[in-house]
Amino acid sequence: MEISNRESAIAGRAARALAAVGPIMRFLMQARDLGHPDACDFLAGNPLELASQEYVAAVQRAIQPDSPAYFRYGPPWQPAVAAVTAALAGRLGLELVPEDVFLTRGASSGLVLLLRILLDPGDEVVMMSPPWFFYEAVVLAESAEPVKVPLTPGTFDLDLPAIERAITPRTRAMIVNTPHNPSGRIYPEDQLRGLAEILERASAQHHRRIYLLSDEAYARILFDGRAMVTPARFYPATFVLHSYSKTLLAPSQRAGYLAMSPAMPEREQLRRALMLGSISAGATPDTAMQHAMPELERQIIDVAAVERRRDRMVVAMRDQGYAVESPEAGFYLFPRSPIADGLEFCGWLDERHVYTLPGEAFERPGYFRISLTATDEMVERALPVLADAIRSFSPAAS
Ligand SMILES: Cc1ncc(COP(=O)(O)O)c(C=O)c1O
Repeated sequence: MEISNRESAIAGRAARALAAVGPIMRFLMQARDLGHPDACDFLAGNPLELASQEYVAAVQRAIQPDSPAYFRYGPPWQPAVAAVTAALAGRLGLELVPEDVFLTRGASSGLVLLLRILLDPGDEVVMMSPPWFFYEAVVLAESAEPVKVPLTPGTFDLDLPAIERAITPRTRAMIVNTPHNPSGRIYPEDQLRGLAEILERASAQHHRRIYLLSDEAYARILFDGRAMVTPARFYPATFVLHSYSKTLLAPSQRAGYLAMSPAMPEREQLRRALMLGSISAGATPDTAMQHAMPELERQIIDVAAVERRRDRMVVAMRDQGYAVESPEAGFYLFPRSPIADGLEFCGWLDERHVYTLPGEAFERPGYFRISLTATDEMVERALPVLADAIRSFSPAAS
């Protein structure tokens, strides 16, 4: 009897997690001819060209073992931790020390690791909507409850009063994502200061520390000379999550890191928990990627090319009649779709080999997402199809 209860609890959690990622997974997995000569792949922020020679050379050098220790169980490779710490501290303006920086297999593995060490069953995790589509699933996997707060319609700003209302005595963590996927919004300093005040107040009121997890996967894909501000500058109980998946556009090669604020309360205990958690969760990258990190840290994709693609598409799509903001950062455009049903709209584009993601995958029907990691040729092939689409779906056409 006890066994069957346990089994059904696990099945229920897995079922909820599946329901959370279901729409996007179904859409991503459905059969498409991505190899078709006319295919325009705007789906998932994936590379459509080979990684740079510089990147490949760095990984090739790093895969050369230099001693038996290369293959051992053991702590992360300290030169990588030192290189990453120095670079991140410089970029974020934080006085980081290597003991507070943990190498991970990308931002998602850092997120899973943190949730695992911070959450107890039944805890609540506040996240913004639209969220990155895996947040809900990874919170559910820890038997915790996701609590969603919509970002301000139109601007995708943090809705501070709504965030404050969403916090309860069970809130243990909050996830923010800046720059934000899919809107490309970089949260400005005043909003992050406001968020920090709310978190301080709520932690004191409920006698329970609320940890802030700042997903900064797109922190280096910034446009128009903008700068990125981390909430770790304003709220001591912040962890930042970084990744090479976007910076180097080779996400199958898992690598990234997380860091805790130098002002983190109970830092020693958290260090130990993260060290142990990294081992048990298998969160540390393979040795080859660790050895490549000091070099990879100095590399970055051609962000100016992504920015040019953004400008080409935003200007052309606005001319065609789309309502589309120009993103401040990241890989995506998030235009409004001409009809409320994004699945129908994206299905229409799919049939013409223009592959995009419906807003339904981000809890925003009426929008669709275009990844700017497509090639320039794909952009030029897709624009006339997008023009046809808005004509076909406009009320005058029906
Ligand atoms: C907001 C956000 N966070 C995290 C990730 C996952 O990054 P990684 O490949 O580093 O795990 C993504 C990938 O799309 C993302 O968009």
